[in-house]
Parts: sequence; structure tokens; C-alpha cells
Amino acid sequence: MKEQLERIRSSAMEELAQAKEIADLEALRVRVLGKKGELTAVLKMMGGLSAEERPVMGQMANAVRAEIESRLEERKTELAASALEDKLRREAVDVTVPGEAVKQGHKHPMNTALDEAKEIFIGMGFKILEGPEVELADYNFTKLNTEEGHPARDWSDTFYLKEDSSVLLRTQTSPMQIRAMEAIKNPPIRILAPGRVFRKDEVDATHSPMFHQIEGLVIDKGITMADLKGTLETLVKSLYGEDSVVRFRPHHFPFTEPSCEVDVQCFKCHGEGCPTCKGEGWIELLGAGMVHPKVLEGCGIDPEVYSGFAFGIGLERMAMRRFKISDLRLIFENDIRFLEQF
Ligand code: DAH
Repeated sequence: MKEQLERIRSSAMEELAQAKEIADLEALRVRVLGKKGELTAVLKMMGGLSAEERPVMGQMANAVRAEIESRLEERKTELAASALEDKLRREAVDVTVPGEAVKQGHKHPMNTALDEAKEIFIGMGFKILEGPEVELADYNFTKLNTEEGHPARDWSDTFYLKEDSSVLLRTQTSPMQIRAMEAIKNPPIRILAPGRVFRKDEVDATHSPMFHQIEGLVIDKGITMADLKGTLETLVKSLYGEDSVVRFRPHHFPFTEPSCEVDVQCFKCHGEGCPTCKGEGWIELLGAGMVHPKVLEGCGIDPEVYSGFAFGIGLERMAMRRFKISDLRLIFENDIRFLEQF
């Protein structure tokens, strides 16, 4: 029995020394000291001992139990400490490792082009105005001298939001002319209104159902076509260089009289005709004209006292020319590989 106790003690001690985890200690405690444990089994055999031997063995068994228990506690503390140390080592942060650079984005080319145009007009005293994309047909058409029945109001061209054709997605930024005149009332008015416009167009290299325009409006006493020409020439020369050549071509818009379209001589071929200008020698830039007296009157401005000019620029076209982008779709696809080039 003495040898049995000694064997239990020494094998427990050895195992304890080798234990790697706290769970190993608990398993050992149950196996050796538990109710059905090895030591308990030995104690149960004490009944068969003589009266002299029993207390000696009892004492020895208790000593073995006490030794194992105290060693168990010791090992538990040691293992807990080394587990904590391991964890700290694993989770340690090396503050000297260089950080991962955050990739910085930049302005979309459309915004760059828009900001450039804004700068030029702000320099000429214009104020920037914003207005609704969901617009009344009244503002988008009627007040712009485009009566019901006019082909521009056709359902095949316009996204109407109501059966009665009274509300729509604006097809142009020109309704901002009306909103500006109604809001400011007393000229002088000098505003620039950039924004989204919508038309029922199929997507191709030069068309999109959503695109951007920049509307401009100037109203004051004594404004003439010369002011229109001077302002737009300033724009074109600021955008495309002092040596760029501008052409004013007669056109028709319901809300201006007279009306014109403004072209810039092709920067590639200087008027000879090439693929960039589709052989024309000129590139169309914007529509403009003197504000129609009917439009002024409709906004409570006396056309006998005041006059003004207005213009509408296609922002995508401007950006495409500025950055030599050949396909409109690239602007809206938001492919990083494309956008990174600007
Ligand atoms: N709104 C016209 C369009 O979308 C462009 C335009 C032409 C605007 C003449 C104007 C203007 O302000 O005077 O085609």
C-alpha cells in the first residue's frame, strides 16, 4: 500500500510538472483525488489493515493528498501567468511598423469642369443658384414661352411624373431662369444655375437620359447682345485659351429672341475638319439668346425697362472637351481605372 501511495504521488508530480494547460490540471485532480479517484480507491482498502498500520497509512495518504493539492494550486498559478504572458505577446502592437497608406480620391472630372466654369462666372459677378430636379411643367415649359402642344413637351421626350403632364423631371435648367426672376424680382440679376436634367434618350456615346447643364441669366437695364457675346467669349477663352475662336450662329429657342448657338473652333484641326469635330471644324458649346419679352413679362419684369440674356451649357460636353474624353458613358460608369486618369 505504501508503494501504491508512493507511485500515485510520484506519477502525479511528474504529470503536474508536464501539464501545459489549466484543463490538464483539472483532469488530473478528478482522476487522482476525485470520489472515484486513484487515491480514494487506496483509502478504501485501509479497512484491511491492522490497527497499528492504519493510522500510519492514513497519515501518509493525507500527506500525499496535501502535497498533490498544494502542487496543483502552484501549477495553476504558474500556468495562468504564462497564459497571460502568451496572450500579451500575441496581441502586442509593434508601433514601429509603418502604417498602411489610405488611398486618397480626388474630384470627379465633371466636378473639376463645373468648378472651373463656376470660378469664371463668379469672377464676373454671378451668384450660384440651385433648384429642384422635379419641376412643374409650368416652369419647365409654359413660363418659358413653350405652350402646350409644342413638340418639346411630347411624352416621348420627357419624363412626366403625373398623368396630367403637370409635373416632370426637368428637361433643362432653363426653369431656373423663372425661379431666379420670381425670387429676386428687382434686377440686376446675374445667376448661374448648374444641375441635372433628364430626357428620354437612349444611352450612346453622346446621349444619356440624365446629364448636366449650366444655366446662366443676366437681367438689367440696357443689356444687349454685345454683353452676351462678351460674357460667352470670356468663358470660352478662359476655358480653352486666349487664341480660341468663337462663332455665334443664329438658332431658335422659344424663350429667347434672338437666339443663337455658340461654337468654338476645333482645337485639334483649327477649323479644317477632323474626327474630333466630326469634320465640321467647329464644336457646338451652348445655346443662348436675349430673354424673350414675354418671359420677362410673365415674371413681372417690365421688358420696356429691362432686358437680359440667357445661356445653357452642356456640362458633359464641356468636360469631354476639357479632358479629351471620347465617350459620354465613361463619365457615368465610375470605373476607377478611368477616373484615376484625371
Ligand atoms: N435649355 C436649352 C436646351 O436645353 C439651352 C438654352 C438655350 C438655354 C438658350 C438658354 C438659352 O438659357 O438662352 O437646349
